[in-house]
Formats: sequence, C-alpha cells, structure tokens
Amino acid sequence: MGSEIDGDLYRKVLGRYPTGVTLVTGMEGDEPLAMVIGSFVSVSMDPPLVGFLPGKSSYTWPRIETSGSFCVNVLSDTQEDLSNAFFRKGGDPWKETGWVPAASGSPVIPSCLASIDCAIHDVVDAGDHWFVLGRVTDLSHVDEGSPLVFLGGRYGRYRPLV
Ligand SMILES: Cc1cc2nc3c(=O)[nH]c(=O)nc-3n(C[C@H](O)[C@H](O)[C@H](O)COP(=O)(O)O)c2cc1C
Repeated sequence: MGSEIDGDLYRKVLGRYPTGVTLVTGMEGDEPLAMVIGSFVSVSMDPPLVGFLPGKSSYTWPRIETSGSFCVNVLSDTQEDLSNAFFRKGGDPWKETGWVPAASGSPVIPSCLASIDCAIHDVVDAGDHWFVLGRVTDLSHVDEGSPLVFLGGRYGRYRPLV
C-alpha cells in the first residue's frame, strides 16, 4: 500500500462504513459460480449501470467474466448462513439454495431480496481490484424482508430510526 497510509488504520477506518451483502453469480459452462460481494453499488440509471469490485487475486471472478454476464443477488438478514456457505471454501454451497437461470443464464437465487441481471459493460483497473460495470438487463425483487448488513467484519441487520 502507498507509503503514507498505514494498512491497519486504512482497514479500521474503512471498516466504519457499512455495506450490504450480495452474491454475485455467473456460469462457467454449465457450472454455477458465486462470490460474496459487499462492494456492490448502483452507478447510473440512464443507461442502467451497476458496479462491484472483485479483487485481482479472486479465483471466481475471471471464471464468471468469461460468460460476459453476471447476476447480483441481494441477501436478506435471514441469509447469513448462505453468505458463510459461499465465503467458506469446501463443500458445495449450492446445496444450501436453489437457483434459476436469469435471461443471461446467470443464477438467480429466488430467496434473495432482489436480483439484478447484467451484461458486462466495462472492467476498469482499480489498484488491487477490478471495477466491474454491468449494464442491467433484467431486475426482480420481493416486497418483504430487510437486507443483511456488514460492518467492521461482522454481520448485522438494518433498523429504521422511526
Ligand atoms: C461480507 C463480505 C463482503 C465481501 N466483499 C468483497 C468484495 O467486494 N470484493 C472482493 O473481491 N471480495 C469480497 N469478499 C471476499 C470474497 O467473498 C472472496 O472471499 C474473495 O473474492 C476470494 O474468493 P475467490 O478467490 O473464490 O474468488 C467479501 C467477503 C465477505 C464475507
């Protein structure tokens, strides 16, 4: 990391900022793949673009990338176990959930709060990560439920103030 910024301080400070938790899915041939992603962001409405940042050392992202598309599945606060199943390596995390193919073929996980199917629009160099921009091709959501939140290395849930 750049010499002026201490790595521990960087992690501590950025750990004060909460994110949601998503499963970014895709296919490699007929194999469904998914990675846990907190860096998902809504980017543009016209054209409809969303983004996320996979690390350059990710094993899963380049495999998803070859299909030219991906689907972002937003986890609810009842899906911590599902996040852990995909984060932990070993075993078959797909045993924990069903999925159906989106129009692009990428897995939609129907129990999630929302699914955003995308065609890869651009992949921009971003230090030790890639900034992946997706053009939204399809969307779905459920009306009930609340998002899983990640803050300072721990899962939590959203609580409205009023
Ligand atoms: C809550 C949470 C959020 C995460 N967000 C990201 C992220 O935005 N980008 C990323 O590259 N990895 C993120 N990770 C780590 C990935 O899930 C994964 O462990 C990493 O990409 C390496 O996996 P792979 O080599 O199989 O691709 C996150 C993990 C958790 C638990």
